[in-house]
Amino acid sequence: MNSTVVTGIGELVTADGSGADRLGVRSGAAVVVEDGLVAWVGPQAAPPAADRRVDVGGRAVLPGFVDSHAHLVFAGDRGDEFAARMAGTPYDGGGIGVSVAATRAATDEELRALLAARVAEMRAQGTTTVEVKSGYGLTIEDEVRALRLAREVTSETTFLGAHVVPAEYAADRAAYVDLVTGPMLEAAAPHARWVDVFCEPHSAHAFTADEARAVLVAGREAGLGLRVHGNQLGPGPGVQLAVELGAASVDHCTYLSPSDVDALADAAGTTVATLLPGVEFSTRSPYPDAAALLRAGVDIALATDCNPGTCYSSSMPFVIALAVREMGLTPGQAVYAATAGSARSLRRDDLGRIAVGARADLTVLEAPSHVHLSYRAGVPIARALDLDA
Ligand code: NIG
Ligand code: FE
Repeated sequence: MNSTVVTGIGELVTADGSGADRLGVRSGAAVVVEDGLVAWVGPQAAPPAADRRVDVGGRAVLPGFVDSHAHLVFAGDRGDEFAARMAGTPYDGGGIGVSVAATRAATDEELRALLAARVAEMRAQGTTTVEVKSGYGLTIEDEVRALRLAREVTSETTFLGAHVVPAEYAADRAAYVDLVTGPMLEAAAPHARWVDVFCEPHSAHAFTADEARAVLVAGREAGLGLRVHGNQLGPGPGVQLAVELGAASVDHCTYLSPSDVDALADAAGTTVATLLPGVEFSTRSPYPDAAALLRAGVDIALATDCNPGTCYSSSMPFVIALAVREMGLTPGQAVYAATAGSARSLRRDDLGRIAVGARADLTVLEAPSHVHLSYRAGVPIARALDLDA
C-alpha cells in the first residue's frame, strides 16, 4: 500500500456536493490517496496517517478534467481550412477526407507519437481522462489500427467508422453502411467501448437518420455503448435518435429545437448533452444556451472535440472559459460539466469527482479558486497533479 496525504489545498472542489451548482467546494480540507484511489477526504487538521505528504501551497485542487469527446488519432494538418473558414468558407465535413488520406498514409509509429503528444498536451492542461474516437481510417484495417492505438492510452475508445462516407464509396453509400455495420464493426468492436456516428443532414458526407440508426443498432448488438454527433450544422434528427436509443451522450447540440430540449430533459439520467464550445469558436457557429439547458433539467457535459477540422484545441480550460463567456454557465457550473458531467456521459462514477473510492485523478491550479479557469482565460494555470513525481 502506498498512501499520500495532500495538504495545503486552498480550495477543494469535489464535484460531489449537493449545493446549487453541485460543486462541493470545501476549504481547509485534505485528501488521502491510496494506491491511486481517494481513501479519505476531511479536515486538514486531522488527517489519517500516510506514507508521505504533498503540500500544494494554497492552490486549488479539483477533479481532473474528463474530456469525453476527442478525435486524437490522425495525421496531417488543416490549418488552411481553418484560415479559409475564418474568411467565410462554411464547414461542411468535406475536409475530413483530407485527414483520412493523411492518416492512412502514416505509419503506426507516426500515429502513436502524434497521439502520445496530444494526450501529454491534455494532461499538462489538467485533463486526466480522454475518450478517443477512430474515424480517420474508414477501412477495416485502418479503423482497427486507430482503435488499437487509442487503447494504448485510454479505456474509453469509440468506433467511428461512420464518421463520413469515404470517397471510394460516394456512389454507393448503402455499401459503406453495410461495411460499417458488418465486417468493420465486427473487427472494431473488441477494441472499442462505444460506437458513434456523425448524423447530420446538413453535410453530404455524413449520415442520415436512417443510416445512423442502422449504425447505432448494429453497434448496440455488438455490445457497444452509444454516442452520437448530432445537431451540429443545423437542426436535425441526432438528438431525438440518441434519446430514442438511450445513447449515453449526444454531442455538439449546437442547433436545438424546443422539442429537442424537452426530449433531453426527459432523458436526464440516461442521455447527456455534451457541449463542445471549441467547435462553435473554430467554425464561427452560434453557441447553444447551456444555461437554458440546465434550467430545463438537461444533463450537460463539456468536452473539447479536439480534432484537425472543427476544433484543434486540446484545452479543457479554454472550453470552460468559452462556456462561461458564451454559453451562460457560471464558473462552477462549467467546472462541474467538465468533470462530473462528462464522467456521467461516459457512464463512469469513479471519475470526475473527489470522493472516497473514486480514482485519485487530481488537477491543481496555479490559482486559489476554480473561478480562475475562466477569469484567467488563456493562462496555463491547470495541470494534472502527478503524485508519483
Ligand atoms: O466532431 N462532426 C464531425 N466530426 C468532427 C470533425 C471532424 C473533422 O472535421 O475532421 C467534429 O466536429
Ligand atoms: Fe467530434
